[in-house]
Amino acid sequence: MAYRICLIEGDGIGHEVVPAARKVLEATGLPIEFVEAEAGWETFERRGVSVPEETVEKILSCQATLFGAATSPTRKVPGFFGAIRYLRRRLDLYANVRPAKSRPVPGSRSGVDLIIVRENTEGLYVEQERRYLDVAIADAVISKKASERIGRVALKLAEGRPRKTLHIAHKANVLPITQGLFLDTVREIAKDYPLVNVQDIIVDNCAMQLVMRPERFDVIVTTNLLGDILSDLTAGLVGGLGLAPSANLGDTTALFEPVHGSAPDIAGKGIANPTAAILSAAMMLEYLGEKETAKKVEKAVDLVLEKGPHTPDLGGTATTETFTKAVVETLKAL
Ligand code: NAI
Ligand code: MG
Repeated sequence: MAYRICLIEGDGIGHEVVPAARKVLEATGLPIEFVEAEAGWETFERRGVSVPEETVEKILSCQATLFGAATSPTRKVPGFFGAIRYLRRRLDLYANVRPAKSRPVPGSRSGVDLIIVRENTEGLYVEQERRYLDVAIADAVISKKASERIGRVALKLAEGRPRKTLHIAHKANVLPITQGLFLDTVREIAKDYPLVNVQDIIVDNCAMQLVMRPERFDVIVTTNLLGDILSDLTAGLVGGLGLAPSANLGDTTALFEPVHGSAPDIAGKGIANPTAAILSAAMMLEYLGEKETAKKVEKAVDLVLEKGPHTPDLGGTATTETFTKAVVETLKAL
């Protein structure tokens, strides 16, 4: 039976990197039926809504979704909501999994193989802000339930990896009630995973250690905003946003996307690096149980990153198309 995969290009370079990842998925030879759907700023401009209901239905009719990127305007636009934040909440995609692994490019540190597991539904991202004259207040929500389920995702991941180490990154020293609940809850459920070496680390120290000695980290679990920031830092350790993939996991479906945005500065030029989207597609294959094929795709990407051609973000002159063609040919030869 064929896999059903939903493809959402979104905006900007989403229109370039998602078709590139599709070509690589097609080259795997796996039976895949693609279902195209729309979301994002262009959809909002055309239809007055950034995520039409039929898009949600299409996602739910598929086993997994590959998403490109969506633009959010920097000004307040009545009726507009950010497509990716909406989908994470609507589909209860509570775990944002962001691996950072050394790549054979000059900008990448060596010896890095870590995963940030970021809580994806609450924290400061409940978007409850208000202003009284010259004072502004934002609520941060931390629940035991959400801390427990994100903790389990991270502990299970750590249990399946050679080093079996989990760092809980937190700021419970300053916020003992909210951050403390997160830390205590993950510590408590860690008792169910006796093989995992669990350590807690204050997030600012974690940021410094990630820069000084990233190779000592395996899996890091943290709250929403802290994970958003730490995962851009870890992307920067291993070659930048053009190379960083991610997964948004829920209990019933999953959405895979590059960490980068719609990159309006290079959109439409055909020079976006599709690696992050292709590696996100590889994470999707792993999620579907196609571990061997996922590894092959990653290997093909690494071989091309090593030899070239390279897109301009990595100092080369290749287009998205020539880079993708090289990955497809390398994959077919493996
Ligand atoms: P961005 O990730 O789009 O771009 C940051 C810089 O990295 C730009 O110079 C861009 O050219 C470069 N870059 C990013 N991806 C690249 C790739 N694959 N190949 C080569 N260069 C690449 O972040 P920015 O500029 O902060 O945001 C642009 C728009 O994207 C905004 O509207 C923002 O709201 C949205 N955004 C959406 C995200 C999502 O859909 N998950 C995530 C981050 C931003
Ligand atoms: Mg971010």
